[in-house]
Amino acid sequence: MSILKVARLGNPILRRGADGIPLDQLSSPQIQKLIDDMVETMKEYDGVGLAAVQVHESRKIAVLEVADNPRYPQKPTVPLTVLVNPEVTPLSQETEEDWEGCLSIPELRGRVVRYKSIRVQARDRSGKEMDFVASGFHARVVQHEWDHLNGKVFLDRMRDFSTLTYLQELARYWAGK
Ligand code: NI
Repeated sequence: MSILKVARLGNPILRRGADGIPLDQLSSPQIQKLIDDMVETMKEYDGVGLAAVQVHESRKIAVLEVADNPRYPQKPTVPLTVLVNPEVTPLSQETEEDWEGCLSIPELRGRVVRYKSIRVQARDRSGKEMDFVASGFHARVVQHEWDHLNGKVFLDRMRDFSTLTYLQELARYWAGK
């Protein structure tokens, strides 16, 4: 497995929508290795999610996992999940606002409005259909990664930039907010 280079904001690949994966290509060694490398890369940088476009691959794959994460302490855990060709549908119009960061936008956090509860339809890495409901922080992570696959980043979802802050200032001025 290898740790991949993460594309940063400004790289055009982050702004193009990713291509869907034909299911008959999913079992190929290249795609399976890409998934393994994405998981490795996400863990290396303490991410809670990573989309293939962030490692310079225009494919509809996202991985997520929330365990004991120093970048996001005190968040509920989410098991390691591989989403292939995901589709997200909000289950209600109810939203909530919370902090987000992104490995492609290092050092910055901002408050982002997301749907509270969503339905997620995708394939897993073996091509099996997945269909589940996610809410709260789990739903937030899925929406963030899904956005990446559609060429969007969390900045696009901020109401305005008044809460945009560097991590150091977040700890200093925004603790508990
Ligand atoms: Ni991101």
